[in-house]
Formats: sequence, C-alpha cells, structure tokens
Amino acid sequence: MKHLVIANWKMNPMSLKEAISLAKEEDKKDVVIIPPTPYIPALQTVVKKGSLGVQDVDPINAVNGPYTSALSPAFLKKFGVRYTIIGHSEARANLGESDAIIAHKIKSALDAGIIPILCVGETKEVRDMGYTKAREFVLDQLERGLDLIKGGVGKIIIAYEPVWAISTNNEGVADDSEGAGEMIQNIKAHLSSSMKLWAQYKIIGVYGGSVGVNNVGVFLKERSIDGFLVGSASLRSKEFLRIVEIVNG
Ligand code: PGA
Repeated sequence: MKHLVIANWKMNPMSLKEAISLAKEEDKKDVVIIPPTPYIPALQTVVKKGSLGVQDVDPINAVNGPYTSALSPAFLKKFGVRYTIIGHSEARANLGESDAIIAHKIKSALDAGIIPILCVGETKEVRDMGYTKAREFVLDQLERGLDLIKGGVGKIIIAYEPVWAISTNNEGVADDSEGAGEMIQNIKAHLSSSMKLWAQYKIIGVYGGSVGVNNVGVFLKERSIDGFLVGSASLRSKEFLRIVEIVNG
C-alpha cells in the first residue's frame, strides 16, 4: 500500500495566488492538501490527482438551513472536500476544542462521508512522566474522540502527533521514530482488541510532528506507520515533493 502524505498548511499562505500555485505543485496521487477553508472553492478545480481536505468541521450535518456560524461536513463535501482534520493540538489548545466536541465532529464527518483525521498526542509534561503515561494519555484521547462512532463503518485516519514534536523544524525528532511507530502500533492494537466495535472500520495510522526530508526515511522504516501529516515542510513545495518521492518512490 502506498503511504498517504497529508499537507497541513495551517493558516498559510497569505494569498489565494500563492495557494493556487502551491496546490498545483503539490497535487500528486496519495497526497491530501489541506488549505485554510476560504481557499477551498478555488482549489477544488486545481487539486485533481490528490485530494482536498479541511482543517475543521462542525458537528452539524446539513447542506443548508438555520445554522449560523456552522461549517458542516456535508456542505464542505459539495466543494470537493474528502478529508478533515479534527482535534489538532493547536485547536485543542487555542480554540478550546474538547474531547466531547471532537467526538461529535468525528461522527458528523463520517455521517457526511468525509474521512476524519483524528489527531492525538501527548504534551511534553506527560511525556516527561514516561512512555507508559504517554500511551495512557494517547489511548484515552483516542477512546474519547471515537466515543460516538463505535460499531459503525467507514475509514478513519488516526494521526499521532506528540505535541512536543510539532513545529520544531526537524530538530531532535528523528531519534524518536521507534517511539512513534510503537505508539501507532499501540493505537491499532487498542482498537483491534475490541474487534466488535471497530471491525467494520479501515484504520490508517499516520505520524506528524516536524516531518521533513531529513527524517521521513527513518519514520518510514516503522511498519505501523501508514503515512505522514506534514505541517511546515508542506509550505515549501520542493521539500514537500521530495518527501512524497521518498515515501512513495
Ligand atoms: P509540523 O506540523 O510538521 O510543522 O511540525 C505538523 C502538524 O501540526 O500537523
């Protein structure tokens, strides 16, 4: 199976012109481009080989109606959106996204036929208490995030993104590829241990946190890792394309 490479542009770039040219360059098979939502309608016709995703959806599953402020997955799907990030640590920290809200968003995305990318990952404080604590923390986030979709059917991507590894510009993270591989293995094992609840789901495990040209090869050796969620490096198309080439040949 080819690995999935997800470009999380976060709140970049500054102009639609730059967004269109970045998307044209990064549009490849097995790539998911996740721009800021206002660029979505324009990028719908640009992203052809890869897929388009959004950085958030609301737990409202309608294409129209009296839902002030809501950005529903069903509505976004009309603009070619196939994936959505949910529960990113930046949204948890800056926008107060709770596990309960995340669980509703996951359900609403799946109900609308959008593939959720649930982000989980421990903070530095938790990691400093040891790997066992970090695993407990991550599995707890996982359980709560997936709480409303047990026994259902569909495809879910779990992105393991240790908070301490995000936006470090590749420094000191490659050393921990085994820890990342093990955590994703733990996540998959945890879900398959309650087979009845998750048997009908296809679970994909990706790693995110300062993935770059220099360390992606090391992470790639971990068999449990099915792909990558790339932040800062996805804003530099040459580097991003090199990552895609290393990952999928
Ligand atoms: P980063 O971001 O690659 O810049 O660390 C990853 C992410 O936050 O999804």
